[in-house]
Amino acid sequence: MRPRRFRAQGPLTGRIRVPGDKSISHRSIMLGALAVGETRVTGLLEGEDVLSTAAAMRAMGATIERQANGDWLVAGVGVGGLLQPQGALDMGNSGTSTRLLMGLVATHPITACFIGDASLSKRPMGRVIDPLTDAGARFTGYPGGRLPLLVEGARTPVPLTYRLPVASAQVKSAVLLAGLNTPGTTTVIEPVATRDHSERMLRGFGADLSVETDADGARVIRLTGEAELKPQAITVPGDPSSAAFFVVVALIVPGSDLVIENVGLNPTRAALFDVLRLMGGSIEELDRRDVGGEPVADLRVRASNLRGIDVDPAVVPSMVDEFPVLFVAAAHAQGRTVTTGLEELRVKESDRISVMRAALEAAGARVTETEDGLVIDGSGGEPLAGTHDAPVATHLDHRIAMSMAVAGLASPHGVEVDDVRPIATSFPVFEDLIAAATGA
Ligand code: S3P
Repeated sequence: MRPRRFRAQGPLTGRIRVPGDKSISHRSIMLGALAVGETRVTGLLEGEDVLSTAAAMRAMGATIERQANGDWLVAGVGVGGLLQPQGALDMGNSGTSTRLLMGLVATHPITACFIGDASLSKRPMGRVIDPLTDAGARFTGYPGGRLPLLVEGARTPVPLTYRLPVASAQVKSAVLLAGLNTPGTTTVIEPVATRDHSERMLRGFGADLSVETDADGARVIRLTGEAELKPQAITVPGDPSSAAFFVVVALIVPGSDLVIENVGLNPTRAALFDVLRLMGGSIEELDRRDVGGEPVADLRVRASNLRGIDVDPAVVPSMVDEFPVLFVAAAHAQGRTVTTGLEELRVKESDRISVMRAALEAAGARVTETEDGLVIDGSGGEPLAGTHDAPVATHLDHRIAMSMAVAGLASPHGVEVDDVRPIATSFPVFEDLIAAATGA
């Protein structure tokens, strides 16, 4: 464990640049590894989760190398060409690697054993096991659909028509990736839209993929199988989920005026910024542009007096990873913030509803836990008292660690976090950027 106390160090100013988007980075390695030829990725997130994906794709035959200039080159094996991995695929902390790669393995004639850390080994895999079993794959493991799991890919895969029972981009992507090496048309029906990076990137690599909206407003995604993917040059935009921590810290630390460069603003990801604006946050978009087929801007964020609001549950899928840090913003707002519809937060890297309730309470915030969210009575701009006796428990969850670091940076006494090591799964330069923005 590496504990650290984060405490107020004055306003955050200047310009910082957050690393590449985690979701897009995973997909660029996976699809690059399935194309025939060489894909170049610029701005890849070099976090542990993405490196787990890269190691797994190497174990299945792809060549993946970092160049001296920081670009990554991926030489693919072609759809259908994945090789039998020789050892277990260690997914570390990464749910995205696990679920998406299970989709790929499910329709290749190979067998792979997926293992992960203590957090990942508690997370539900039934949500991908169910459809992938229908596609012809076989899963063996402990009862309850948790890692470690052995996946035996189908020799004659069956195309699925699958209606998502949970709003999950990981499940959607697992089914679509399984469809790549399956004859016929794979169809995913998505009643509630989730991040669409897989659809965008599959098209970019030349797959035949269409998206329609049906009479009930559901997205119907159709992918033609036995696809031939063409190598691409990909530029990965900055991760809005990483920018989120700096947006909130700049809003709640008095005197801050910070520019965060290169933030991806795909509408299926960017709802946090709209919610914070509704709360009174000053977040300005500068130089809106297109990077690698995704909308991007620099965000200028100024310290603001926030007001509590009722957060519309309809926005949950487009900010599903940002609730822990939104809770921190709410704890500093004037009045009450009510969040609902957050059941999925309980099956992330930790149970983010109860872990954030406990962490914020320990830091002096007024929080009530409900079945599907938190109700937070804000401090009206006062800093939180901070932690005194024990550090907050982050349960191997990077976003809990970073959210509570943000709370600490607004508190003179500070918040002690029990372990900052998990931050490296998604945002290895987080502490460096805090030092840069606070001049520490
Ligand atoms: C992700 C989807 C989300 C998100 C995760 C990344 C992806 O998970 O929480 O961090 O890249 O597809 P769910 O699909 O389980 O909601």
